[in-house]
Amino acid sequence: MRWLAVLWRGSALGSVLPAELHCTGSALLVQTSFAGTQAFTCPPYYEAQTCCLQHEMEQIWEKVEDMLQFVLRVMEDQGEDLKRAEDQEAAGFLEDDGSICSEYHAQLFSSRLRGFREARQATAKGVDILQGATMHMLCAACFQSSSQLKLEQVDNFTSSALLSLQDRMGAIFTEQVLADRSPDTQCSLGYVDALTAGISFPSWGRFSPAFVWQGSLLASFAGWMDRVLSLLMEVPGSLLFQRTLLQLLFFYAERPDSDAFQLLQGHSGAVLDYSSIEEEPEKLCPDAPRLFIFVRQAVPTDKLLQCYKDLQAVPAGVRWVLTNSSHVSAMSGEVKAKEQLIWRRFEARSLHGVARALCAAPAWVVELEAMDCKDAPHVSRLLTSPSEQDLRRSSWPQGVSPVTPSPPPSWSGLEEYVQAHAAFVQQSRSGAVPASRKALVYVCTAMSYCGGHGDRLNGMLGAFVVAMLAGRAFFIDSQRPVPLSLVLQPRVGGIDWRMHGSHAVLPAGFNFNDNLAAFESDPHVVLDSQEDVLRIVSNQRLSAAALRSHPRSARALGLTGPRLHMELFQLLFQPSPALSARLRARKLPEGRRIGLHFRAGDQMPQHWKDPPRHDLAQLEEFLNCAEDLERQQGWNATFLLFADTDKVREMPRVQELAAAGKLVLPEQTDGLVHLDRSPATLTVRGLLQTWADWWTLAFDVDALVLSHSGFGATALELGPLRPAVLGLGCVLADGSTG
Ligand SMILES: *[C@@H]1O[C@H](CO)[C@@H](O)[C@H](O)[C@H]1NC(C)=O
Ligand SMILES: *[C@@H]1O[C@H](CO)[C@@H](O)[C@H](O)[C@H]1NC(C)=O
Ligand SMILES: *[C@@H]1O[C@H](CO)[C@@H](O)[C@H](O)[C@H]1NC(C)=O
Repeated sequence: MRWLAVLWRGSALGSVLPAELHCTGSALLVQTSFAGTQAFTCPPYYEAQTCCLQHEMEQIWEKVEDMLQFVLRVMEDQGEDLKRAEDQEAAGFLEDDGSICSEYHAQLFSSRLRGFREARQATAKGVDILQGATMHMLCAACFQSSSQLKLEQVDNFTSSALLSLQDRMGAIFTEQVLADRSPDTQCSLGYVDALTAGISFPSWGRFSPAFVWQGSLLASFAGWMDRVLSLLMEVPGSLLFQRTLLQLLFFYAERPDSDAFQLLQGHSGAVLDYSSIEEEPEKLCPDAPRLFIFVRQAVPTDKLLQCYKDLQAVPAGVRWVLTNSSHVSAMSGEVKAKEQLIWRRFEARSLHGVARALCAAPAWVVELEAMDCKDAPHVSRLLTSPSEQDLRRSSWPQGVSPVTPSPPPSWSGLEEYVQAHAAFVQQSRSGAVPASRKALVYVCTAMSYCGGHGDRLNGMLGAFVVAMLAGRAFFIDSQRPVPLSLVLQPRVGGIDWRMHGSHAVLPAGFNFNDNLAAFESDPHVVLDSQEDVLRIVSNQRLSAAALRSHPRSARALGLTGPRLHMELFQLLFQPSPALSARLRARKLPEGRRIGLHFRAGDQMPQHWKDPPRHDLAQLEEFLNCAEDLERQQGWNATFLLFADTDKVREMPRVQELAAAGKLVLPEQTDGLVHLDRSPATLTVRGLLQTWADWWTLAFDVDALVLSHSGFGATALELGPLRPAVLGLGCVLADGSTG
């Protein structure tokens, strides 16, 4: 920390840098420019001393330049989209019959173009603000200033520039919301109405230019710039994106049998509740003795294999909990019985939690990297003939510990949370300020990366846990490709999480996409934040680290069960009418069903044209595995095969099984050839189908054969307890929250 700067104390933009600083003063001169750029030069009211490492400053400035390049590139692409849209509009592509509805529909397009042009101007100005503000802050962070007054003036100027940018974007957003109000219910469009479902982003959480310390100067700057960048990009991006979806909506208006029509036009009708598949726990708990060895993904395979060899003398009852599929393949060839392996798609964070989920009986746990595999005799003795002295921690082998019982939860906290949430929503709707203004919003926008099914579910549920522990009302503002409420809606009697408008503001926020380590290194930054409203972008499982950092709240809220994510999913969601209709239209075979999820390519459904990466022949292994599973359970089951490639239909074994009625493939309801190949189009077209497939795997099959993917793994985790295996190697699968 020796390079940290002093000047942010008392500065409006950054009051959170650690106070104890030991500035050594590097040799960097004020007027120096570096990394081949002339752009970074501190103004003369800075003195020659710096407390920052030069390479840190260079990294930050490189990041600024990357961002500016990105903005320019996006604006250029959008310029082309704008041109196309203007041409279309000039050609009058919508049929105008003079009715109020056709006028309204035309206006949905034209107002978006108008808003986009205005937002684009604001963005162009914002680029200058981002550049100037970052430079100022970097100088303030790294240099002694001769003038506190000057610093404060620039701080004030930056703040008001950002505030006015937010206000401009907010005004454009609000104008759009007003223009979208349907003049008559018969003109209403489900998609447009859903854009503003739920409450709007609370006014008291809108503006927060403050800089949050996130472990390093680079990470802190990256976080800050990321937030400003989204203020620059989201409003124009979402307007263009929505315009594309409106085009789809009108294209599908003439195809009422399509899934996309059901999804976008809005569907009314009864919603389905959860299925009543009977819970049927897989017996993953070995007879005594029981030792679960957890292997992190990054452990080198040869180290794992060596440890396995070293521990061969230990009697049966050892279980290897693996996540990395390379580990699974390597160990499958080594172990005497495949029951010794347990696969989890998501690395366990709570070893005791997983062990408790697997075994009601006493067991031991250890993390491979923490144990001494050469100490096999000691481990053996402890497991097979423990003595009185083994009650003492000091006599346990290195890293090994007995599973502790779960503390009894008290559910009263959860009930209170649900009530407080309802009050928050109700007061916000009526325009009042809720008693507690603390809220946390999970966002997935037109411009942000949200990931596939697994990513989104993990991101939302993790954010929900964080919100509950922090005593914040939890909301979801997920707009891509369509508002989430068109697919999943709030569970009746649960909490109404619907919110909109978080993309037109500059709130405090965090981005944990693909960066669980950033959250885990200091969960308190988020959990103990004093900001009223936090906006979170994340595809990570934040729950375990959050629960560990706030154990008392976790108990009070009853967040202690091994299947926490399942309980929370069921508190939040039920299928929308459109998804319910889609689910009702399935013809599920009677009797026992085994769901197979075969992911040939490591790809999202919208990229279905990509060549398969995995050998299709591996599907044979999946099918053999399903047959084994069926035999073990003593069932006469039907196989439901969900695959991300149509090629599976050409396989002789699949055709045979299908002809015999033993195997069923989901129908391809939306047989339309592609209207265009844009990702949005393909995603929307297949969205209901994909969710229906996921829902079927989660709630309507008695057992699962899975690929190494979050899609199936979240279905296992969030549905009732059932036997499950990883198709490759037919290795038992655990779906506890862990
Ligand atoms: C900056 O803004 C604060 C708060 O609005 C104000 O009190 C202060 O006088 C301003 N400082 C300067 C130098 O303009
Ligand atoms: C999984 O293991 C392989 C082989 O040891 C390794 O190359 C890979 O990086 C590991 N994956 C992760 C996510 O650590
Ligand atoms: C399984 O069920 C199917 C359909 O009900 C039936 O035709 C078949 O004979 C059954 N197989 C066994 C082994 O019981």
